[in-house]
Amino acid sequence: MKSQVSEIKKKIKRLETLVDTSMIFSSILDIDELLNIVLQKAEEVMDAEASSVFRIDEKTNELYFVTARGEKGKEAKEIRVPMGKGIVGWVAQHGKPLFVPDVKKDRRWFKGVDEKTKFVTRSILAVPLIAKGKIIGVAEVLNKKGNRKFNKDDLELFKALANQIAVAIENASLYTELDRLFLSSIRAIVEAVDAKDPYTRGHSSRVVEYSLLIAEAIDSDKDKLKDIEVSAILHDVGKIGIPDKILRKPGRLTFEEYAYMKRHPELGASIIEPIEKLRPLQKNILYHHERFDGAGYPSGLRGEEIPLGARIICIADSFDAMTTDRPYRRKKSIHAALLEVKRNSSTQFDPTLVKIFIRQFERYRMKK
Ligand SMILES: [Fe+2]
Repeated sequence: MKSQVSEIKKKIKRLETLVDTSMIFSSILDIDELLNIVLQKAEEVMDAEASSVFRIDEKTNELYFVTARGEKGKEAKEIRVPMGKGIVGWVAQHGKPLFVPDVKKDRRWFKGVDEKTKFVTRSILAVPLIAKGKIIGVAEVLNKKGNRKFNKDDLELFKALANQIAVAIENASLYTELDRLFLSSIRAIVEAVDAKDPYTRGHSSRVVEYSLLIAEAIDSDKDKLKDIEVSAILHDVGKIGIPDKILRKPGRLTFEEYAYMKRHPELGASIIEPIEKLRPLQKNILYHHERFDGAGYPSGLRGEEIPLGARIICIADSFDAMTTDRPYRRKKSIHAALLEVKRNSSTQFDPTLVKIFIRQFERYRMKK
């Protein structure tokens, strides 16, 4: 009777794990974080000492660690396992789960990983990750605690988890691929804008570089940094609507021409208006020529009324303009440009960001 009750309790715990993890799958977008939490749950419910998820690298026909938990996880992440080699290699090749109660007695066992990580593997339960009928990787749990062996219930649970993991990985890589395509099309558009004005070639990419120098010192959030990157690439996209005779004019602009030129932030913001994904970045483009003292354009915003992204891009943009030749003036030296940025702190630029930029730029220059 007692054992029956504990058996039922165990089953409930397993069901709970599946329900819990399916909630996690729908609520966490970051794939690394998601896999880490799901594997932690798998370890808990199966009493395993460590766990990992591998993906297949189709180019090299090897398996690499996507997540490696346990005390030697960090060391493991460097290692690649050839397809067909070891337990995971076998599972990846055959697309079948494998349950190895004692690795020393299994001829397929590949000592390489343990030798490199100094982890001692005793038993393994490994399942293939299959998405849309294709094997994309392997998940494994290692060493059931207390010298016990993984059992059929563990296998069933892990197979169910593996299905969810496979779908999550597949979705994440589709998303990454879309994101990559999206960024490269934006870069192509901006190269076309840069090309319109021969004096600003490469300007947008340098503005990205300098903006990220500042942004990375403030926040490490991947999404926020991506927003800054895309805003900085696009900051001058509105120049696409400025006539060539103004944009390419070798001398100084007349008052009217300058007034026309000053419309480029608004033009840029309206160009990206129809793209929903870019709409939150409109403000960074629209206000990148505002000044901290309120004397900028188009709206004369001052201080922190100006969005942070726009304040960052403003410094990066001006610094690059100072350090590149223009038709009507020679470029400044880096030293002179940094002094100029400092001199305009609190008037044109946010003083806190100026300090960060100068500090970060010096570091960046030392590394170069
Ligand atoms: Fe601009």
